[in-house]
Amino acid sequence: MVTASSVLDRVLVMEMVRVTEAAAIAASKLIGRGDEKAADAAAVEAMRAALNELPMDGTVVIGEGERDEAPMLFIGEKVGSAQGSGPSIDIALDPLEGTTITAKAGPNALAVLAIAEHGCLLNAPDVYMDKIAIGPGYAEGTIDLAKSVTDNVRSLAAAKGVGADEIIACVLDRPRHAALIAELRGLGCGIMLIPDGDVAGVIATTNPDTGIDIYLGSGGAPEGVLAAAALRCVGGQIQGRLVFRNDDERARARRGGIEDLARIYRLEDMARGDCIFAATGVTDGSLLNGVRRRRGGGIATDSIVMRASSGTVRRIKAEHQTGAV
Ligand code: FBP
Repeated sequence: MVTASSVLDRVLVMEMVRVTEAAAIAASKLIGRGDEKAADAAAVEAMRAALNELPMDGTVVIGEGERDEAPMLFIGEKVGSAQGSGPSIDIALDPLEGTTITAKAGPNALAVLAIAEHGCLLNAPDVYMDKIAIGPGYAEGTIDLAKSVTDNVRSLAAAKGVGADEIIACVLDRPRHAALIAELRGLGCGIMLIPDGDVAGVIATTNPDTGIDIYLGSGGAPEGVLAAAALRCVGGQIQGRLVFRNDDERARARRGGIEDLARIYRLEDMARGDCIFAATGVTDGSLLNGVRRRRGGGIATDSIVMRASSGTVRRIKAEHQTGAV
Protein backbone atom coordinates (compact mmCIF):
# COMPACT_ATOMS: atom_id res chain seq x y z
CA MET A 1 0.00 0.00 0.00
CA VAL A 2 1.20 3.51 -0.75
CA THR A 3 1.06 5.47 2.51
CA ALA A 4 0.65 9.22 2.75
CA SER A 5 4.31 9.88 3.29
CA SER A 6 5.56 7.39 0.72
CA VAL A 7 3.48 9.17 -1.93
CA LEU A 8 5.65 12.24 -1.47
CA ASP A 9 8.79 10.15 -0.91
CA ARG A 10 8.64 9.03 -4.47
CA VAL A 11 8.92 12.57 -5.67
CA LEU A 12 12.24 13.51 -4.25
CA VAL A 13 12.44 16.63 -2.18
CA MET A 14 15.42 17.72 -4.25
CA GLU A 15 13.35 17.54 -7.41
CA MET A 16 11.10 20.27 -6.06
CA VAL A 17 14.09 22.57 -5.79
CA ARG A 18 15.07 21.89 -9.38
CA VAL A 19 11.63 23.10 -10.39
CA THR A 20 11.76 26.36 -8.42
CA GLU A 21 15.38 26.94 -9.48
CA ALA A 22 14.38 26.66 -13.14
CA ALA A 23 11.57 29.18 -12.70
CA ALA A 24 13.73 31.61 -10.73
CA ILE A 25 16.59 31.49 -13.22
CA ALA A 26 14.21 32.09 -16.13
CA ALA A 27 12.55 35.03 -14.35
CA SER A 28 15.89 36.50 -13.32
CA LYS A 29 16.67 37.45 -16.90
CA LEU A 30 13.83 39.95 -16.63
CA ILE A 31 14.74 41.52 -13.27
CA GLY A 32 14.46 45.29 -13.49
CA ARG A 33 13.33 45.20 -17.11
CA GLY A 34 9.92 46.75 -16.35
CA ASP A 35 7.97 43.91 -17.95
CA GLU A 36 5.94 41.94 -15.38
CA LYS A 37 4.20 39.81 -17.98
CA ALA A 38 7.42 38.71 -19.66
CA ALA A 39 8.99 37.85 -16.30
CA ASP A 40 5.94 35.82 -15.28
CA ALA A 41 5.72 34.06 -18.66
CA ALA A 42 9.39 33.04 -18.51
CA ALA A 43 8.96 31.62 -15.01
CA VAL A 44 5.75 29.78 -15.92
CA GLU A 45 7.25 28.16 -18.99
CA ALA A 46 10.37 27.03 -17.15
CA MET A 47 8.42 25.70 -14.17
CA ARG A 48 6.04 23.77 -16.39
CA ALA A 49 8.86 22.17 -18.35
CA ALA A 50 10.64 21.16 -15.12
CA LEU A 51 7.45 19.73 -13.59
CA ASN A 52 6.77 17.68 -16.70
CA GLU A 53 10.09 15.88 -16.25
CA LEU A 54 9.11 14.53 -12.83
CA PRO A 55 7.79 10.95 -12.56
CA MET A 56 4.44 11.79 -11.00
CA ASP A 57 0.76 12.12 -11.78
CA GLY A 58 0.50 15.75 -10.77
CA THR A 59 -2.48 18.10 -10.82
CA VAL A 60 -2.20 21.85 -10.49
CA VAL A 61 -4.72 22.92 -7.81
CA ILE A 62 -3.37 26.43 -7.30
CA GLY A 63 -1.93 27.86 -10.46
CA GLU A 64 -1.89 30.68 -12.93
CA GLY A 65 -5.67 30.95 -13.16
CA GLU A 66 -8.63 29.07 -14.58
CA ARG A 67 -8.24 27.12 -17.80
CA ASP A 68 -9.79 29.80 -20.02
CA GLU A 69 -7.50 32.53 -18.70
CA ALA A 70 -4.13 30.83 -18.36
CA PRO A 71 -2.49 28.95 -21.22
CA MET A 72 -0.05 27.16 -18.91
CA LEU A 73 -0.19 25.83 -15.36
CA PHE A 74 -3.91 26.53 -15.16
CA ILE A 75 -5.96 25.05 -12.34
CA GLY A 76 -6.62 21.42 -13.20
CA GLU A 77 -3.70 21.05 -15.61
CA LYS A 78 -2.02 17.67 -15.36
CA VAL A 79 1.74 17.75 -15.06
CA GLY A 80 4.40 15.09 -14.67
CA SER A 81 5.70 12.31 -16.85
CA ALA A 82 3.87 9.45 -15.11
CA GLN A 83 0.19 10.24 -15.69
CA GLY A 84 -1.97 7.37 -14.49
CA SER A 85 0.95 5.40 -13.08
CA GLY A 86 2.95 7.70 -10.79
CA PRO A 87 2.01 9.02 -7.36
CA SER A 88 -1.04 11.26 -7.36
CA ILE A 89 0.16 14.68 -6.22
CA ASP A 90 -1.61 18.01 -5.86
CA ILE A 91 0.48 21.07 -6.62
CA ALA A 92 0.11 24.68 -5.53
CA LEU A 93 2.47 26.92 -7.42
CA ASP A 94 3.42 30.46 -8.13
CA PRO A 95 6.27 30.45 -10.65
CA LEU A 96 6.87 34.12 -9.94
CA GLU A 97 5.52 35.44 -6.65
CA GLY A 98 6.19 39.14 -7.09
CA THR A 99 5.89 39.99 -10.77
CA THR A 100 5.97 43.74 -10.11
CA ILE A 101 8.85 43.33 -7.66
CA THR A 102 10.81 41.54 -10.38
CA ALA A 103 10.00 44.14 -13.00
CA LYS A 104 11.22 46.87 -10.62
CA ALA A 105 14.15 44.87 -9.16
CA GLY A 106 12.63 45.14 -5.68
CA PRO A 107 13.05 42.70 -2.77
CA ASN A 108 11.46 39.32 -1.99
CA ALA A 109 10.44 37.93 -5.38
CA LEU A 110 10.30 34.12 -5.23
CA ALA A 111 9.57 31.09 -7.34
CA VAL A 112 7.32 28.98 -5.09
CA LEU A 113 5.84 25.50 -5.07
CA ALA A 114 4.03 23.29 -2.57
CA ILE A 115 3.02 19.69 -3.12
CA ALA A 116 0.81 17.43 -1.08
CA GLU A 117 -1.08 14.20 -1.35
CA HIS A 118 -4.23 14.52 -3.44
CA GLY A 119 -6.95 16.49 -1.62
CA CYS A 120 -4.72 18.01 1.07
CA LEU A 121 -4.40 21.56 -0.26
CA LEU A 122 -7.30 24.02 -0.24
CA ASN A 123 -8.34 24.67 -3.82
CA ALA A 124 -8.53 28.40 -3.20
CA PRO A 125 -10.02 30.53 -5.97
CA ASP A 126 -8.04 33.49 -7.28
CA VAL A 127 -9.71 36.05 -5.02
CA TYR A 128 -8.43 38.01 -2.04
CA MET A 129 -8.02 36.47 1.37
CA ASP A 130 -7.86 38.24 4.73
CA LYS A 131 -4.87 36.79 6.51
CA ILE A 132 -3.36 36.74 9.95
CA ALA A 133 -0.19 34.83 10.74
CA ILE A 134 2.39 34.47 13.49
CA GLY A 135 5.52 32.38 13.87
CA PRO A 136 6.02 29.23 15.94
CA GLY A 137 6.13 28.94 19.73
CA TYR A 138 2.76 30.49 20.64
CA ALA A 139 -0.21 28.64 22.13
CA GLU A 140 -2.96 27.70 19.69
CA GLY A 141 -5.58 30.45 19.76
CA THR A 142 -3.13 33.30 20.30
CA ILE A 143 -4.53 34.77 17.09
CA ASP A 144 -8.11 34.64 15.88
CA LEU A 145 -9.23 36.22 12.63
CA ALA A 146 -12.76 36.53 14.03
CA LYS A 147 -11.46 39.04 16.59
CA SER A 148 -10.34 42.64 16.04
CA VAL A 149 -6.83 43.66 15.06
CA THR A 150 -6.46 45.27 18.49
CA ASP A 151 -7.48 42.07 20.29
CA ASN A 152 -5.04 40.04 18.23
CA VAL A 153 -2.11 42.39 18.77
CA ARG A 154 -2.81 42.53 22.52
CA SER A 155 -3.09 38.76 22.72
CA LEU A 156 0.20 38.30 20.87
CA ALA A 157 1.92 40.97 22.99
CA ALA A 158 0.73 39.25 26.19
CA ALA A 159 2.01 35.89 24.92
CA LYS A 160 5.33 37.49 24.07
CA GLY A 161 5.49 39.31 27.39
CA VAL A 162 5.81 42.76 25.80
CA GLY A 163 3.61 45.79 25.31
CA ALA A 164 1.45 46.13 22.21
CA ASP A 165 3.70 49.00 21.12
CA GLU A 166 6.60 46.54 20.78
CA ILE A 167 4.82 44.39 18.22
CA ILE A 168 6.00 44.69 14.61
CA ALA A 169 3.43 43.92 11.94
CA CYS A 170 4.01 43.24 8.26
CA VAL A 171 1.29 44.64 5.98
CA LEU A 172 0.97 45.00 2.21
CA ASP A 173 1.16 48.69 1.33
CA ARG A 174 -2.29 49.15 -0.18
CA PRO A 175 -5.02 51.83 0.16
CA ARG A 176 -7.43 49.07 1.25
CA HIS A 177 -5.32 48.66 4.39
CA ALA A 178 -5.73 52.26 5.58
CA ALA A 179 -8.02 51.35 8.50
CA LEU A 180 -5.83 48.40 9.49
CA ILE A 181 -2.71 50.57 9.45
CA ALA A 182 -4.47 53.30 11.47
CA GLU A 183 -5.53 50.74 14.08
CA LEU A 184 -1.98 49.39 14.35
CA ARG A 185 -0.59 52.93 14.60
CA GLY A 186 -3.10 53.65 17.35
CA LEU A 187 -1.61 50.75 19.32
CA GLY A 188 1.90 52.12 18.72
CA CYS A 189 2.95 49.04 16.71
CA GLY A 190 5.79 49.14 14.23
CA ILE A 191 4.63 48.42 10.70
CA MET A 192 6.75 47.04 7.90
CA LEU A 193 4.89 48.04 4.77
CA ILE A 194 5.79 45.78 1.87
CA PRO A 195 5.11 46.66 -1.78
CA ASP A 196 4.24 43.09 -2.77
CA GLY A 197 5.03 39.49 -1.90
CA ASP A 198 2.94 38.35 1.03
CA VAL A 199 4.17 34.73 0.88
CA ALA A 200 7.55 36.04 2.00
CA GLY A 201 5.74 38.41 4.40
CA VAL A 202 3.97 35.54 6.16
CA ILE A 203 7.09 33.37 6.26
CA ALA A 204 9.03 36.31 7.73
CA THR A 205 7.00 35.91 10.97
CA THR A 206 8.74 32.55 11.49
CA ASN A 207 12.23 34.06 11.37
CA PRO A 208 13.18 36.10 14.47
CA ASP A 209 15.91 37.85 12.46
CA THR A 210 13.27 39.74 10.48
CA GLY A 211 11.84 41.31 13.64
CA ILE A 212 8.33 40.73 12.28
CA ASP A 213 5.86 39.36 14.84
CA ILE A 214 2.63 39.23 12.90
CA TYR A 215 1.36 39.37 9.32
CA LEU A 216 -1.99 41.13 8.78
CA GLY A 217 -4.14 42.13 5.84
CA SER A 218 -5.56 40.87 2.58
CA GLY A 219 -3.63 39.45 -0.34
CA GLY A 220 -4.15 36.67 -2.84
CA ALA A 221 -5.91 33.54 -1.58
CA PRO A 222 -3.59 31.26 -3.59
CA GLU A 223 -0.63 32.94 -1.87
CA GLY A 224 -2.37 32.22 1.45
CA VAL A 225 -2.39 28.49 0.72
CA LEU A 226 1.27 28.55 -0.31
CA ALA A 227 2.17 30.38 2.89
CA ALA A 228 0.12 27.88 4.92
CA ALA A 229 2.06 25.01 3.34
CA ALA A 230 5.31 26.69 4.38
CA LEU A 231 4.07 27.18 7.95
CA ARG A 232 3.01 23.54 8.16
CA CYS A 233 6.65 22.66 7.64
CA VAL A 234 8.36 25.31 9.73
CA GLY A 235 5.74 26.00 12.41
CA GLY A 236 3.52 28.98 13.09
CA GLN A 237 -0.15 29.81 12.78
CA ILE A 238 -2.14 31.28 9.92
CA GLN A 239 -5.84 31.90 9.38
CA GLY A 240 -7.56 33.18 6.28
CA ARG A 241 -11.04 34.19 5.10
CA LEU A 242 -11.90 34.67 1.44
CA VAL A 243 -12.88 38.19 0.38
CA PHE A 244 -15.30 38.56 -2.51
CA ARG A 245 -15.65 41.78 -4.46
CA ASN A 246 -18.49 40.69 -6.72
CA ASP A 247 -20.80 37.84 -7.73
CA ASP A 248 -18.37 36.60 -10.33
CA GLU A 249 -15.81 35.93 -7.61
CA ARG A 250 -18.43 34.19 -5.48
CA ALA A 251 -19.38 32.01 -8.46
CA ARG A 252 -15.70 31.22 -9.01
CA ALA A 253 -15.45 29.97 -5.43
CA ARG A 254 -18.61 27.89 -5.69
CA ARG A 255 -17.35 26.34 -8.94
CA GLY A 256 -14.29 25.27 -7.00
CA GLY A 257 -16.49 23.50 -4.44
CA ILE A 258 -16.52 26.15 -1.69
CA GLU A 259 -19.92 26.33 0.00
CA ASP A 260 -19.39 28.41 3.13
CA LEU A 261 -18.08 31.67 1.68
CA ALA A 262 -17.54 33.26 5.12
CA ARG A 263 -15.52 30.39 6.52
CA ILE A 264 -12.34 31.07 8.44
CA TYR A 265 -9.68 28.64 7.27
CA ARG A 266 -7.08 27.52 9.74
CA LEU A 267 -3.68 26.21 8.78
CA GLU A 268 -4.83 22.58 8.57
CA ASP A 269 -7.81 23.60 6.43
CA MET A 270 -5.42 25.09 3.87
CA ALA A 271 -2.64 22.52 3.98
CA ARG A 272 -2.95 19.19 5.74
CA GLY A 273 -1.17 15.88 5.83
CA ASP A 274 2.38 15.71 4.61
CA CYS A 275 3.50 18.44 2.28
CA ILE A 276 6.68 19.79 0.77
CA PHE A 277 7.30 23.49 0.24
CA ALA A 278 10.08 24.78 -1.97
CA ALA A 279 11.14 28.29 -2.95
CA THR A 280 14.03 29.85 -4.82
CA GLY A 281 14.86 33.52 -4.51
CA VAL A 282 14.51 35.59 -7.67
CA THR A 283 15.52 38.88 -6.05
CA ASP A 284 17.19 39.32 -2.66
CA GLY A 285 14.83 39.09 0.30
CA SER A 286 14.33 38.22 3.96
CA LEU A 287 14.07 34.51 3.19
CA LEU A 288 16.50 33.97 0.33
CA ASN A 289 19.08 35.66 -1.85
CA GLY A 290 18.15 36.31 -5.43
CA VAL A 291 19.65 34.73 -8.53
CA ARG A 292 23.23 35.81 -9.19
CA ARG A 293 24.79 35.77 -12.65
CA ARG A 294 28.51 35.16 -12.30
CA ARG A 295 31.08 37.07 -14.29
CA GLY A 296 32.32 34.78 -17.00
CA GLY A 297 29.21 32.59 -16.90
CA GLY A 298 27.46 30.47 -14.31
CA ILE A 299 24.42 31.22 -12.22
CA ALA A 300 24.01 30.94 -8.45
CA THR A 301 20.68 30.21 -6.78
CA ASP A 302 19.51 30.16 -3.18
CA SER A 303 16.62 27.88 -2.28
CA ILE A 304 14.79 26.42 0.66
CA VAL A 305 12.89 23.16 0.74
CA MET A 306 11.03 21.86 3.73
CA ARG A 307 8.81 18.96 4.58
CA ALA A 308 5.91 18.85 7.03
CA SER A 309 6.16 15.19 8.13
CA SER A 310 9.82 15.40 9.14
CA GLY A 311 10.08 19.12 9.88
CA THR A 312 13.34 19.12 7.91
CA VAL A 313 14.34 22.47 6.46
CA ARG A 314 17.07 22.37 3.83
CA ARG A 315 18.78 25.41 2.41
CA ILE A 316 20.37 24.80 -0.94
CA LYS A 317 22.87 27.11 -2.53
CA ALA A 318 23.58 25.93 -6.06
CA GLU A 319 26.04 26.93 -8.74
CA HIS A 320 24.72 26.20 -12.23
CA GLN A 321 26.74 26.15 -15.42
CA THR A 322 25.16 28.47 -17.94
CA GLY A 323 24.92 25.75 -20.57
CA ALA A 324 22.94 23.51 -18.22
CA VAL A 325 20.10 25.98 -17.55
P1 FBP B 1 1.95 38.78 -8.27
O1 FBP B 1 3.24 38.07 -8.24
O2 FBP B 1 0.87 37.99 -8.93
O3 FBP B 1 2.12 40.14 -8.83
O4 FBP B 1 1.46 38.92 -6.74
C1 FBP B 1 2.14 39.74 -5.84
C2 FBP B 1 1.28 40.01 -4.63
O5 FBP B 1 1.84 41.06 -3.88
C3 FBP B 1 1.06 38.83 -3.70
O6 FBP B 1 2.15 38.53 -2.88
C4 FBP B 1 -0.15 39.25 -2.95
O7 FBP B 1 -0.82 38.18 -2.35
C5 FBP B 1 -0.97 39.95 -4.01
O8 FBP B 1 -0.04 40.38 -5.00
C6 FBP B 1 -1.73 41.14 -3.51
O9 FBP B 1 -2.59 41.57 -4.53
P2 FBP B 1 -2.75 43.13 -4.91
O10 FBP B 1 -1.49 43.55 -5.63
O11 FBP B 1 -3.93 43.14 -5.81
O12 FBP B 1 -2.94 43.88 -3.64
